[in-house]
Amino acid sequence: MSKSQTSPQIPPKDQEDELSDECKKLLSTLPKERGWSVSHIYNYQGFWAKPRVIQGVIACQQQFQAQDSDIILVTNPKSGTTWLKALLFALVNRVKYPIFEQNHPLLIKNPHDLVPFLELTLYVDGQVPDFSSFTTPRLLSTHLPFASLPKSIQDSNTKLVYLCRNSRDTFISTWHFINNLNLEHKNTNSIGRAFDLFCNGISPYGPFWNHVLDYWKASIEKPNKVIFLMYEEIKEQPKIQIKRLAEFLECPFSEKEENCGVVDEILRMCSFENLSNLEVNINGKLSSGHENKVFFRKGKVGDWKNYFTTEMKEKLNHINEQKFEGSGLKFHYI
Ligand code: A3P
Repeated sequence: MSKSQTSPQIPPKDQEDELSDECKKLLSTLPKERGWSVSHIYNYQGFWAKPRVIQGVIACQQQFQAQDSDIILVTNPKSGTTWLKALLFALVNRVKYPIFEQNHPLLIKNPHDLVPFLELTLYVDGQVPDFSSFTTPRLLSTHLPFASLPKSIQDSNTKLVYLCRNSRDTFISTWHFINNLNLEHKNTNSIGRAFDLFCNGISPYGPFWNHVLDYWKASIEKPNKVIFLMYEEIKEQPKIQIKRLAEFLECPFSEKEENCGVVDEILRMCSFENLSNLEVNINGKLSSGHENKVFFRKGKVGDWKNYFTTEMKEKLNHINEQKFEGSGLKFHYI
């Protein structure tokens, strides 16, 4: 957990003129595509990202020194990062910040302010993060694919909490989010164009399937280092899943805590209904300029049904089957 209340700097802009010369030079050598927004996205180390993100990624890969006690949340964008940040924060800090207290940090801050992104916040725009004010364990997050994690994360005993969401809802959530941000440019994507890009692997940090599969495999190979959670399973069986997470993080709930309703209260506090109705998340802003409310849309499993044609459903099913064949990984849909 961080004592410093670092504000997220999730880059809202597409400008390339603020990049270092080194980064500009690198970009000129990378494959590029017209992305979901006004600007181009580039393929760096096999995944797609905007220039400012790539600059943050490189800085983080070069500079970040993981500690064995670190806990790092990893997600594909729009998989429920905000929710898991809240759950992790409440869970890991429940002694320092008792869950029933009225001034709990989650009631006055957006989860992105409490669990900062590495490449999007701490290392963005050439910033040099000051970790001196962080307490142990440090709670951090990233969208980076497994193979692109800073080496010190791979080499240490740092725990990785991976949250996966089914491809249909992730796609719909991403489409809404990017269109929302693009509204000011009057440049929204048709669902058909965005869907084709997504299916072709061209999405933020995509290909989506490679991201998921690499962490799935890592969770099987190194179950003490990587836990693989699913958004839909947490929705279905929240108590079981949060207890599983607490055990993985070596801070299991005591019988007394369970009897006192600590588990239920953490789930209630971090629920979509509670977080999305807090003043800070209705009217607050991140220092990047993003309004906190953009991270709360519907928070449901199955919103894809309101948008997908049969062809879209079949196409994604086909890709899921092809990509996950033999892996044992299956998405949950309703
Ligand atoms: P929808 O767009 O489907 O509603 P991320 O946090 O990775 O950006 O993901 C955002 C998605 O998580 C959005 O999905 C958002 O509504 C949902 N979400 C945010 N907070 C949530 C919560 N507390 N519980 C469940 N879902 C949540």
